[in-house]
Amino acid sequence: MIERMQITRPDDFHLHLRDGKVLKETVAASARDFGRAIIMPNLHHPVTTAEQAAEYKSQIIEQIPRGSPFQPLMTLYLTDNTTSEIVRKAKAMGDVYALKFYPAGATTHSDFGVTALNNIFSTLETMIDSNLPLLVHGEVTDADIDIFDREKIFIDRHLIPLVERYPELNVVMEHITTQEAADFVASASDNVAATITPQHLLYNRNHMLVGGIKPHFYCLPILKRNIHQDALLKAATSGNPKFFLGTDSAPHAKQDKENSCGCAGCFSAFGAMAFYAEAFDSVDALEQLESFSSHFGADFYGLPRNTDTITLVRNRKDIPAFLPFGDMEVVPLKAGEQLHWSVEST
Ligand code: DOR
Ligand code: ZN
Repeated sequence: MIERMQITRPDDFHLHLRDGKVLKETVAASARDFGRAIIMPNLHHPVTTAEQAAEYKSQIIEQIPRGSPFQPLMTLYLTDNTTSEIVRKAKAMGDVYALKFYPAGATTHSDFGVTALNNIFSTLETMIDSNLPLLVHGEVTDADIDIFDREKIFIDRHLIPLVERYPELNVVMEHITTQEAADFVASASDNVAATITPQHLLYNRNHMLVGGIKPHFYCLPILKRNIHQDALLKAATSGNPKFFLGTDSAPHAKQDKENSCGCAGCFSAFGAMAFYAEAFDSVDALEQLESFSSHFGADFYGLPRNTDTITLVRNRKDIPAFLPFGDMEVVPLKAGEQLHWSVEST
């Protein structure tokens, strides 16, 4: 049994840090183990221009603990009004690494999202010219489509036609949750990849709904049935470089989750590498953890791999019931249970 593993320092290719007072805790949680992170732009006032991304980046940098190598890689939030000029400026200023497509109304703070993909065709063409990837929240929003089918139908209706129309566009299907998404990505061209979260590897909808509703497992896209969890574990541990780490750590205050209309999102950053190690270990595939966590994402984005390392040690540790979150509290993923791994402090 593997008790200890030294791996290249990992990167998180999908992270919500929020802004304001909570940045201190959210940045510290990710900066401990991760070298870089792709920072999601869905703030209350979404990050839609290069200037806003630069300003948000400086707020994040102020909170990076001394000695941490952490670097935030910024993204822009696509709207129907994202022009080619905005894209070109973002590329020229150098802080922006990707643009995020939220179908309007799909999830937290997506009200300003794109209402139809054909509204942004010329923007997508400029993204190809600028070599900036499109990050996709892949769910339809039609009221008559069942929440458990929204990802599959998005692929059929929107993603397949999109990659056919723009084969040169680099596309990351974010936080995939279904066998259909894993199959679509595996069979698409090398320009199409996917991130996978720890919660979708460790859990399925029974964990959220059997024996009482557990709001801290509620995220979007929603946890699916166990056959999909198994398909994601297979994809993540397959050694296929199209699948890489993106936590989608998305903290919300405790009272906003434990609520009659609870917010979507799991706060996983504080123990992310321990969660991934537990998931990979559950299918006896720890030897695939390093490439998934530390190689494939950097390669897809054309970034150098990190050169330093972290060390994971098998050891059980209690997870607190809550953690500080600005003036509030946040309930971490798996609160009240145990981590199976620790990252040794360096
Ligand atoms: O569960 C989620 N939370 N899914 C998303 O797409 C957004 C995120 C958030 O920002 O809270
Ligand atoms: Zn997200």
